[in-house]
Amino acid sequence: MRFSRRLFQHFRQYLDHYSQYNPSPLSMKQFIDFGSQNACEKTSFEFLRKELPVRLANIMKEINLLPDNLLQMPSVAMVQGWYQLSFKEILAYEHADPDDAEMLENFTERLVKIRNRHTNVVETMAQGVIELKESHGIDSNTETRIQYFLDRFYMSRISIRMLINQHTLLFGSQLSQNTRHIGCIDPNCVVIDVVKDSYENAKFLCDQYYLTAPEVKITSLNATAEEKAEQIRMVYVPSHLYHILFELFKNAMRAVVEFHNEDVELPHLEVMITKGVEDVSIKMSDKGGGIPRSKSEMLFHYMYSTAPQPMRSDNGSAPLAGYGYGLPLSRLYARYFHGDLILSSVEGCGTDAFIYLKLFPSEANELLPVYNTTASKMYHSDTLISDWSSPGAGTTMSRG
Ligand SMILES: Nc1ncnc2c1ncn2[C@@H]1O[C@H](COP(=O)(O)OP(=O)(O)OP(=O)(O)O)[C@@H](O)[C@H]1O
Ligand SMILES: [Mg+2]
Repeated sequence: MRFSRRLFQHFRQYLDHYSQYNPSPLSMKQFIDFGSQNACEKTSFEFLRKELPVRLANIMKEINLLPDNLLQMPSVAMVQGWYQLSFKEILAYEHADPDDAEMLENFTERLVKIRNRHTNVVETMAQGVIELKESHGIDSNTETRIQYFLDRFYMSRISIRMLINQHTLLFGSQLSQNTRHIGCIDPNCVVIDVVKDSYENAKFLCDQYYLTAPEVKITSLNATAEEKAEQIRMVYVPSHLYHILFELFKNAMRAVVEFHNEDVELPHLEVMITKGVEDVSIKMSDKGGGIPRSKSEMLFHYMYSTAPQPMRSDNGSAPLAGYGYGLPLSRLYARYFHGDLILSSVEGCGTDAFIYLKLFPSEANELLPVYNTTASKMYHSDTLISDWSSPGAGTTMSRG
């Protein structure tokens, strides 16, 4: 597929045009129905050639609203370049004939290339924020805006990757490894298996780092089943659930080992999986000393971490903590299908993390950022000054 000169010349108009559409959120049921019953490459192509540019344009408009000095950071410029290129590449299929089998194959390959191009977007955008912090500093208004933006930007990315993964796994040459799966969705996801899997991998890292790790006790309650101990299954994307649990386990393990560093025995972590009428809920409790209330607001801030900054390790092993992206990204994965992630802590004792996931596939809709005037106001208005008394706000105002 080659780009027409027109496409390059009228890039801005295309961006304006596609950003006027709201993204169309799909439910888990739609993903499943589409993938299992009448998986039709042509229909998927026709949906994606419009929906992908819409989702890309919506978020690219928001990137443009970032403070100028952030946009000028080399890493942010690089990310912007990837988005522009991918947007143009998909637009090249705007008028393609959906009955052309060769073109369909070419489109799927293109999506794989786009996915690969965007692999390091999270780290690169994070690097851009660090570059800004180091070169200009970040005041609290800018920080609030960046936080607002990153939540929307990373959520948009999760959703775009979901669409690309479904199409490439259903129609691409790289077939899904697991025959039960529909694309990346497991219609019979055994929740406890994902819990065990993520626990083992976090334990491996914790053992490597501290030479010890807490055990875990897992209990299940299938509240609506006659047999309460019946295995809990649900329709979900196992890799998303794994991501959330793995991050929570790493945090809980680190807290427990550091808080009990003098003790011979470490208190267990406890995980309780419950299936109710509407939700599957997972509660993870640790006795890792908890989090002071003064810090609890920071937990979901990007880059908030109490761990030392990880060194880029030569042996390629992943750090246990340190970037401050674990919780905010995990909450996005939970919220993506209208679930949630909440932390609740008792300082001096420990922390409970609650994951809520929607049980009904028809209600588990994608949660997507929409670019509109409300969103753009967030980047410009000065309404971000606190309207409650606080020592911090008072000092800023008297200085300003
Ligand atoms: N279970 C917990 N007990 C005590 N403190 C916690 C717990 N979970 C998170 N925290 C605190 O919240 C901070 C932010 O957590 P988050 O997972 O977002 O980042 P991180 O663990 O520091 O780095 P990474 O991005 O590698 O996960 C942690 O540094 C820690 O201070
Ligand atoms: Mg973490």
